[in-house]
Amino acid sequence: MTICAAIKPRLPAGVTRSALNSPGDRAPDDPPGIRRAAHLRARSRRVLRDRITTISIIQTPAPYLGGKRNLAKRLTALIDAIPHRSYVEPFVGMGGIFLRRARPAPVEVINDISGDVVTFFRVAQRHPDALAAELRGMLSGRDEFDRLRRIDPTTLTDIERAARFLYLQRLTFGGKIRTRCFGVDKANPSRFDPRKVLPNLERLNARLAGVTIERLGYGDVIARYDDPRALFYLDPPYWDCEDDYGVGVFARDDFERLANQLAKIRGRFILSINATDGARAVFSRFAIEEVDTTYTVGSAGGKRVRELIITNRKD
Ligand SMILES: C[S@@+](CC[C@H](N)C(=O)[O-])C[C@H]1O[C@@H](n2cnc3c(N)ncnc32)[C@H](O)[C@@H]1O
Repeated sequence: MTICAAIKPRLPAGVTRSALNSPGDRAPDDPPGIRRAAHLRARSRRVLRDRITTISIIQTPAPYLGGKRNLAKRLTALIDAIPHRSYVEPFVGMGGIFLRRARPAPVEVINDISGDVVTFFRVAQRHPDALAAELRGMLSGRDEFDRLRRIDPTTLTDIERAARFLYLQRLTFGGKIRTRCFGVDKANPSRFDPRKVLPNLERLNARLAGVTIERLGYGDVIARYDDPRALFYLDPPYWDCEDDYGVGVFARDDFERLANQLAKIRGRFILSINATDGARAVFSRFAIEEVDTTYTVGSAGGKRVRELIITNRKD
């Protein structure tokens, strides 16, 4: 298991990383007291090693339509249970699953067709200080929200574009993308507060060390990174909501294309989607589990919905 260097927990004084990997240091003919001390040392090494390979889970930077908050525990447990060397997310969005996995894979690839999403992650990885400086000067308010919403993001620098995206996603109602409107919350402070946003950005920057960030169509990223030891987690747009992330980026036919491509991959996959007859039919050749979850928009209570968790089996 490769460790994300920037977020390795600090070791207690006197314990070196190489010592964690050394075999037990007792000889068979040591007296019982020495054997017990060696046993205790070996046990604390095991505890430390587990802490090192388990990194802290990062809060997603902002709400995002279709974010998997309510299914995250179930999905991350499923991901952890499948041995894999590379972890690939072709539809990463705001990273609702990617960032909630406690155990990073040695190779990690995140991908999205959205220029806003990809620019945000790239800037958070490469220019976190410039992004933080940009965000520090931003005002939380409806006028500013509307001004930024109207700007064409491709006319901005990457740093401005990343800041704009994070700002709008923090404040938009229900994490919406195409139909953003200023979310009002009577009971809570503004969701755009640099004092809360910036520390999380630092953690995100550390978490993204060594992660490959792609901006490809899902078909290309699957083809490029397929491998017997790859695990893909796929969270495409919902059935019947194909246009939620932009017109023409994903169409109804893409589900069939995706299913055909997934049938031929050498790696493993887990795909989640809303439970509809269409999705059940298109993915019927795979193992399908139907689960209950809650769909939350804004701060209102959740609506009970059903989702499909679809997997291929390679055993
Ligand atoms: C349901 S959202 C993913 C949400 C994510 N799991 C999260 O927790 O934030 C689907 C994502 O797929 C992306 N997308 C849509 N069409 C795509 C395509 N053809 N190739 C790659 N990504 C695409 C959208 O931009 C969107 O970010």
